[in-house]
Amino acid sequence: MDKQLFDSIAIKVRTRNDFPLFLNAIDKPVCVEIGVAQGEYSELLLRTGPPTSTFYCVDIWSGKRKFRNFFALAIERLAPFDMRARIIRSPSVEAAAMFPDAFFDFIYIDANHTTPYVAADIEAWYPKAKPGSVFAGHDYVVGHRKCGVIEAVDPFVEREGLELHTTHEDGPKRADKLFSWYLWKPK
Ligand SMILES: C[S@@+](CC[C@H](N)C(=O)[O-])C[C@H]1O[C@@H](n2cnc3c(N)ncnc32)[C@H](O)[C@@H]1O
Repeated sequence: MDKQLFDSIAIKVRTRNDFPLFLNAIDKPVCVEIGVAQGEYSELLLRTGPPTSTFYCVDIWSGKRKFRNFFALAIERLAPFDMRARIIRSPSVEAAAMFPDAFFDFIYIDANHTTPYVAADIEAWYPKAKPGSVFAGHDYVVGHRKCGVIEAVDPFVEREGLELHTTHEDGPKRADKLFSWYLWKPK
């Protein structure tokens, strides 16, 4: 999408649940969520975005027992979307290498929230975003446990000369109360 369209949508985005406004403005959007857990947010985007969207759902689904169990829950939750939801069980950076550059219309990073991991995710996935696409992530917040997202996002944005946006209102679920960051990748 061009910058003018992005800006006209961005002024309507209050919570991350408004991101389908972007998806609905794209023809057959190809999307990825990195860090899927039990698939609730992927499901919301698949349900409220256009029926032509495709979602790659990337998660390592390992470590804590809770996260291993989430794999089965995510499979079950995303099954009704059939081939529109494509599950990739892999570490984030390795998954990024599976895709060509300039492949995605929408990228949402929500995996490991410590600064080195977020920085590595940004470096790995930004080239995979199409020029004119939306590049985003969760937890642009201060003081949330083990959360170093701001410390990774801000230097990247400054280095690349990008314009950063954040969501700014609470949503209905706990995860919606933690703000998301997002930006338009220049053409
Ligand atoms: C906060 S949860 C994601 C929540 C989900 N985006 C939502 O809003 O419903 C973080 C997820 O990231 C995954 N994760 C953590 N580190 C990862 C990595 N290096 N590669 C891939 N997934 C990772 C975890 O397994 C966990 O399921």
